Amino acid sequence: MSFDLPRDFRWGVATSAYQIEGAVDEDGRTPSIWDTFCRVPGAIDNGEDGDVACDHYHRMPEDVGLIKSLGVDTYRFSVAWPRVQPGGRGPANPAGLAFYDRLVDELLSAGITPWLTLYHWDLPQELEDAGGWPHRDTAYRFADYAEIVYERLGDRVEHWTTLNEAWCSAWLGYVEGVHAPGRREFADGISAIHHLLLGHGLATQRLRAAAEAADRPIDLAITHILGNAIPASDLPVDVEATRRGDALHFRMYMDPIFKGAYPADLLEDLDAVGVAIPVEDGDLEIISAPLDTLGVNYYRSMKTTGFAADGATTDAAGRPVTRTIDLGGLPKTYIDWEVMPDDFANLLVRIGHEYSGIPLVITENGAAYDDVPDADGFVDDEDRTKYIEDHLEAVVQARRRGADIRGYFAWSLMDNFEWAYGYDKRFGIVRTDYETQARTPKRSALWLRDTIARARRPLGDD
Ligand code: FCB
Repeated sequence: MSFDLPRDFRWGVATSAYQIEGAVDEDGRTPSIWDTFCRVPGAIDNGEDGDVACDHYHRMPEDVGLIKSLGVDTYRFSVAWPRVQPGGRGPANPAGLAFYDRLVDELLSAGITPWLTLYHWDLPQELEDAGGWPHRDTAYRFADYAEIVYERLGDRVEHWTTLNEAWCSAWLGYVEGVHAPGRREFADGISAIHHLLLGHGLATQRLRAAAEAADRPIDLAITHILGNAIPASDLPVDVEATRRGDALHFRMYMDPIFKGAYPADLLEDLDAVGVAIPVEDGDLEIISAPLDTLGVNYYRSMKTTGFAADGATTDAAGRPVTRTIDLGGLPKTYIDWEVMPDDFANLLVRIGHEYSGIPLVITENGAAYDDVPDADGFVDDEDRTKYIEDHLEAVVQARRRGADIRGYFAWSLMDNFEWAYGYDKRFGIVRTDYETQARTPKRSALWLRDTIARARRPLGDD
């Protein structure tokens, strides 16, 4: 199958540090909030952790060879903050930086463009002990860390993403408590969001200035996880809950960056429950520092309802209910997420309309399925292949409808540590055998390789 995509469309695979590297106490790395959270009984399925993961820290050159064999042009990875600046403040750790230095060189010599994410959730534990993201100082620590990494890699890396999915860091980590650091306090979550965005803005400003001073090109981005807000019904309670949910989970992350202000309706909603965003003078100018690209991660869409399961419209604290539920009647992946590529297209078109002018790259998309390897470790993952195919078609449709989408990165290069789900939920297009650490491309990887080759073929060469 071939897709109506331009020949310079960017094709990539994505990973993140804690999910693949292992080597958690080597070469001066200190614990992150995920190392700590993994020790909390019951926090992670099967009590698993990222201590070894895919052992990528020791197998990096082979993994770059694997990436090259897939024919992608870009590799999206993240840098582990506690590796390069143990404790989250103070001087850089040369041994930690050296790993990413080697990775970048290895990628470049394989002809693969590095797409670097500075923060994919592994906050140094010491910064959490000092207050974590709800604490304003963490934003400034992040900007210092960003500069340290840029100083070492900025001569070879052009594509810089500040944060991966601030929503997960703040909401899952500080409100729902299902991700590290496992705190459950709504007001802390709101402060965390603001300080994540502030850290993003500070880092953006500093990296832009450093690139300008060195006269280098730079592509600065943030990656958000985004989904549509779809009312469960046209009852006013559901429509109003959808507006609230959209303000809190979507526009709160987008408007300050691209419009320089938090949404007015969000501020009213928060005020009604006695919570304020800790904005100081000048913060919004920093947060809205110009960006070059928006990374979009997409897995599923959900409906929003204003009714609790028992039919109530307020919770125990008297706050209005805002609850997401399945769309219903749709196929699901092994992680129980509904599959709805049409909604992916609608989402991309919406972003293009409401935040026009910022080019989009799909920095993550993919699916977990219950893979069954054959005797050689090969997985004939027709389901995952179809998922990727349908979502790529959604990208094509969204482009036709006006969305400016420049690239697509599959999540993930290989099966890895899927956070609170541990190792059972496999998102890789390459199988990881955790006993032998053998990597075996699945059908989806071979399909993607062939699809990319076709997309790059000169016109008229069909
Ligand atoms: C995203 C994360 C990524 C991975 C996928 C399945 O939210 O960014 O690390 O866990 O989900």
